[in-house]
Amino acid sequence: MIVLGIETSCDDTSVAIVNSKGSVLAMAVASQDEVHMPFGGVVPEIAGRNHSENLIPLIDTVLQKAQMEWDKIDGIAVTNRPGLVGSLIVGLVTAKTLALVKNKKLIGVHHIEGHLMAPFLSDQDYVGPGFYQQPFAALIVSGGHTQLYKVESFGNYKLIGQTVDDAAGEAFDKFAKKIGLGYPGGPLVDKISANGNPVAFKFPEPMSKSNDFNMSFSGLKTFANNLISKMNEAEIENNKADLCASYQMAIVNSLITKTENAMVNHGLKKLVISGGVSANTALRKKAEELCQKLNFDLAIPPLRYCTDNAAMIAFTGLKKFENGESSDQSLSLSPSSELQNL
Ligand code: KG4
Ligand code: ZN
Repeated sequence: MIVLGIETSCDDTSVAIVNSKGSVLAMAVASQDEVHMPFGGVVPEIAGRNHSENLIPLIDTVLQKAQMEWDKIDGIAVTNRPGLVGSLIVGLVTAKTLALVKNKKLIGVHHIEGHLMAPFLSDQDYVGPGFYQQPFAALIVSGGHTQLYKVESFGNYKLIGQTVDDAAGEAFDKFAKKIGLGYPGGPLVDKISANGNPVAFKFPEPMSKSNDFNMSFSGLKTFANNLISKMNEAEIENNKADLCASYQMAIVNSLITKTENAMVNHGLKKLVISGGVSANTALRKKAEELCQKLNFDLAIPPLRYCTDNAAMIAFTGLKKFENGESSDQSLSLSPSSELQNL
């Protein structure tokens, strides 16, 4: 089976073609980072307009890259939840129209379920593990989400922990804005942290002592804002690397501690980390150390499948088609985010 996936939930437009083994036959992403950079965050109206300009040319590009005609495509998978309504609708209407005109099967995919499946993709340079039918823990960390799932098998998900306020990516982005780094902040904080001392500043790790697996990042952000407000420009500049490294470490420690506690409590021995923040160098290193220490299996996708991409949507849709699921032309969108036993 071969499926074409479409992802337009936030600010990245992406199209990909994937086969039953999870092999990515072609993928293209049009990033809008530069368009939104002057505004310091995603402007929904601009995101929607750019998706409608980018999407059809990307579909043509991907078909050409895979050297494929429409008759080889068995179905179309599209992100229909959660996300920005004006962004989701561009992908959804395009997918529904193509399904109708080209006479293809259609399936709506939850964006978070896509992130969950991203580590199991493969291509010429990456081969994912095959354990998605076995129980595993999944930490989804992106600009909009920070959630811990217990996955019994494909399609069987239980939310066991989540942020009670800001997402981890949001905490990175707001901090970066505060110290004048620009948008999106996560990759910039990550890069600058390489030259900094992670214990130079002591940031709080909220909820580290709580018995549940929930997290909180807004107190950390407020603490950082207060600290930076007391510094002059030269002090911020001179301490930038240490500030970034220390702030990053507080986020990473919180994510890793909660993940470890949740896995031990739920008897899980395999871990998947996905979403934009899983590109973070310190998080990847700490996750490797954790899994080595406790003899857990770890799967974190390469950067191209960490951030928003259509390959993960195509693969998730394909597995749903294989399970006998499909959507019809009444498929609608939803901004709501919880993925529970879908
Ligand atoms: O999954 P994603 O591409 O989009 C959403 O669904 O939100 O995640 C984007 C988020 C942004 O907040 C960005 O700053 C963060 O992922 N991010 C990172 C890194 N690369 C991207 N955060 C920390 N370190 C990174 N290297
Ligand atoms: Zn995402």
